[in-house]
Amino acid sequence: MLRIIVSFLALLAVVTVAVLGLRGARSTRPPLQTFGDMADQGKYKAQAEGAFFADGRAMRLPPAGAVPYGRSATTRPDGAFAIDDAAFYGLTAFPAEVVKGRPLVVNEALLNRGRQQFTIYCSGCHGGTGSGDGITTKYGLIVPSYHTERSRALSVGEVYRIITEGRGLMGPQGPNVRPEDRWAVIAYVRALQLARNTPLTQLEPRERDLAQHAEAKR
Ligand code: HEC
Repeated sequence: MLRIIVSFLALLAVVTVAVLGLRGARSTRPPLQTFGDMADQGKYKAQAEGAFFADGRAMRLPPAGAVPYGRSATTRPDGAFAIDDAAFYGLTAFPAEVVKGRPLVVNEALLNRGRQQFTIYCSGCHGGTGSGDGITTKYGLIVPSYHTERSRALSVGEVYRIITEGRGLMGPQGPNVRPEDRWAVIAYVRALQLARNTPLTQLEPRERDLAQHAEAKR
């Protein structure tokens, strides 16, 4: 009886080592599989040859007019007009148009669009009023205020570049914000700066009353 128990325990030990002991071990041989899994199905690998298409490539070329994800590569879906971002970097005034045949007018509609895009893509860091107090600053990110001399001295082209390419700890927003919308955001940033820095005496009487009223309530 003892012999049976001992041989059973020995067998158990061998089986345990056989099943668990080799886990994680490396081998050049194909793994043993109880069920052939999806890795084993017929498939083509990236950049490999293939017999399915006449040109012998397993992969397809991108459709004509496709543009890579990245800077300076914004094309309308119809391929009509490619925007070269760098062409805007030197501007000191708003461009007359960003997309050909569509004039860029700085009006209330553009500012509204700018506020919407700013709220989505910038306020998380820069704060709703551009004071550099967005939610990310609670987690240690240091964000400059738009209301410093330095920030206000940035030309519109420089701001366009910062939005497009990012700077320092700020990542590029070009992939998020379309070129036309970047100008809407710039207009809104300018509006925030004006709102903070215009002397009361330069306001029309009604606006001055409103501003003083708001100040008194604070
Ligand atoms: C992830 C947080 C983050 C987001 C989102 C972000 N920014 Fe920034 N931004 C920063 C930081 C941080 C800096 C300072 C960069 C540096 O190190 O110079 C900065 C700098 C700037 C500056 C330069 C300010 C100065 O005084 O030099 C401008 C202008 C600016 N951002 C505009 C924008 C706009 C417009 C958007 C939205 C389209 C935006 N940022 C989105 C974090 C952010």
